[in-house]
Amino acid sequence: MPLSISLTVNGDRHDLSLEDARPTLLDVLRDRIGLTGTKKGCDRGQCGACTVLVDGRRTNSCLTLAASIDGAEITTIEGLSRGGNLHPLQEAFIACDGFQCGYCTPGQIMSALGLIAEGDAGSDPERIREGMSGNLCRCAAYPGITQAVLEARERIAEFERTNP
Ligand code: FES
Ligand code: FES
Repeated sequence: MPLSISLTVNGDRHDLSLEDARPTLLDVLRDRIGLTGTKKGCDRGQCGACTVLVDGRRTNSCLTLAASIDGAEITTIEGLSRGGNLHPLQEAFIACDGFQCGYCTPGQIMSALGLIAEGDAGSDPERIREGMSGNLCRCAAYPGITQAVLEARERIAEFERTNP
């Protein structure tokens, strides 16, 4: 049975008609809204490539039925830069060589943003590795990813303040 839902993605409201309750948030983002920055890796909740923020919480979009989050606010990797300025996490991933092929990177960055917002990304690399353990990287760029999260976390509040 067709369903009408509304999602706010990176500040823009999208009113969507779904053919039934089965489409995932990942497929709606990529195929209906055209935001392909969020990646489909395993499509079964095991790799974290599809991580986005749903109402501020990091979420595997491949495991989330879009119809179950009607009215939610979604943030994807496309929503991070402001006015042409890269987000501190994006800058840090580049500076720290936090990626190789880059396929896992949008999910890594969104997961890191959620981890920092949870207040659980202290200065201990081990805590960051544990907090990011749901995000797999086939290229094994983990040392650079951890370093990027460490370096970016202090600069995010300032970025938000100066790029409203
Ligand atoms: S694509 Fe969603 S966890 Fe792998
Ligand atoms: S950078 Fe290639 S999978 Fe992570």
